[in-house]
Amino acid sequence: MRRLLAHAHAPYSGVQVAAAVEDEQGAIHYGVNVENAAYPQGNCAETSAIAAMVTSGARAIRRVWVTSSLPGLIWPCGGCRQKIWEFSAPGCEVVSVGDDGAAESHTIEALLPLGFRLEPRG
Ligand code: THU
Repeated sequence: MRRLLAHAHAPYSGVQVAAAVEDEQGAIHYGVNVENAAYPQGNCAETSAIAAMVTSGARAIRRVWVTSSLPGLIWPCGGCRQKIWEFSAPGCEVVSVGDDGAAESHTIEALLPLGFRLEPRG
């Protein structure tokens, strides 16, 4: 996944981010951050990966991986936590992978306690 950092469009922050989501069939969908000169219009890598998954027809996320060009581990921003939550299968894991290959994992429920959902999870 880290090879995708080269595909990020991050000329404004200089921070390249790549994400992958595994759907309910085990298929993996990838995304990178795509920034814009109108700064708020940029997309996070997780948002891009979720959009790719939804476009493919899948709807449930089993696992998310995120990595960046920064040293150490990064974790999804608040908005991306809510976007992951929208599609998360129960127990969905978010795995952060560092530049040295070190990884740490937390459930989306731990990262976003009491996230907003219109429908109870079936
Ligand atoms: N970014 C992500 O793509 N994912 C995150 O979880 C946090 C931040 C991006 C947004 C922006 O393009 C750059 O990192 C610096 O904030």
